[in-house]
Amino acid sequence: MALSSGGIPKNVSDSFNPYSLDNKTILITGASSGIGQATAIECSKIGAKVIITARNEEKLQKTFSQLMGDGHKKIIADLTIPEDINRLVDKISHLDGLVNNAGINKLLLPQFINEKDLNMTFQINTMAPILLTQKLLKKKKLQKGSSIVFTSSVSGVYGVSPANSMYSASKGAINGFMMNIALDLMGKGIRCNSVNPGQVETNIMDHGMVTEDQLEEHKKKYPLGRFGKPEEVAYAIVYLLSDASSFVNGTSLVVDGGISIKNV
Ligand SMILES: NC(=O)c1ccc[n+]([C@@H]2O[C@H](COP(=O)([O-])OP(=O)(O)OC[C@H]3O[C@@H](n4cnc5c(N)ncnc54)[C@H](OP(=O)(O)O)[C@@H]3O)[C@@H](O)[C@H]2O)c1
Repeated sequence: MALSSGGIPKNVSDSFNPYSLDNKTILITGASSGIGQATAIECSKIGAKVIITARNEEKLQKTFSQLMGDGHKKIIADLTIPEDINRLVDKISHLDGLVNNAGINKLLLPQFINEKDLNMTFQINTMAPILLTQKLLKKKKLQKGSSIVFTSSVSGVYGVSPANSMYSASKGAINGFMMNIALDLMGKGIRCNSVNPGQVETNIMDHGMVTEDQLEEHKKKYPLGRFGKPEEVAYAIVYLLSDASSFVNGTSLVVDGGISIKNV
């Protein structure tokens, strides 16, 4: 195929797809369900070799069995345990992409916030992505041209919602981290961005914190009259991992069906 000086084909042909993840190895955390699972599946469909991680072996295997192509890996790890992060990093030879996605959400009014829940929220939503990224960088596992994506949220960055201050603080912090390391890693040719979803249909709220009726009421506020689907966030993550986003760095892609502009 004829290439221009920039490596881009002169004629658009079937074989040129800037969104392709062919020959890229991508680590996805929180891949046993929801957004992480959808991201792993979509990345594999578009050519990536994926390394998926989470704590629940059975659920992670379910994701693994839905991956397209071969050469994928699954590694069980609790990202709140430093030894597990070290073991995960040691099992990886090289990466072209990292999706820091694992997270939890516990709704608590401010007067009921306590050290245990605060620690747990920050450990998985904030500390784990920072430490995992740090260790992968220190051990030079992220190759030049890599893309790091953080699954943040509209909460704490673009909006607020009742009893969500603890979670919002953990996500606001990760957005701050993302923007700063995008600057620090420019020289290494590594890009960093976040996706910031609104409410997505996953298990994250399945802890009896909100009733079905409350969720239905909340849904009505969404301009499209529905919450997002995990794949709809996965497609945004695929874009940020791919060369199609090669000039996108240090920014946040809001995937919320328009709820944050509706609230302005
Ligand atoms: N759903 C939404 O409405 C929404 C909106 C905005 C942002 N987000 C963000 O999207 C990300 C994914 O959430 P989701 O909605 O897909 O929720 P989910 O279905 O509950 O998935 C959460 C994932 O995180 C993993 N995880 C949790 N604690 C972990 C730990 N200690 N160590 C390793 N992995 C852990 C879980 O796996 P195991 O239990 O197997 O470990 C699971 O794979 C989170 O960061 C969340 O904050 C979600």
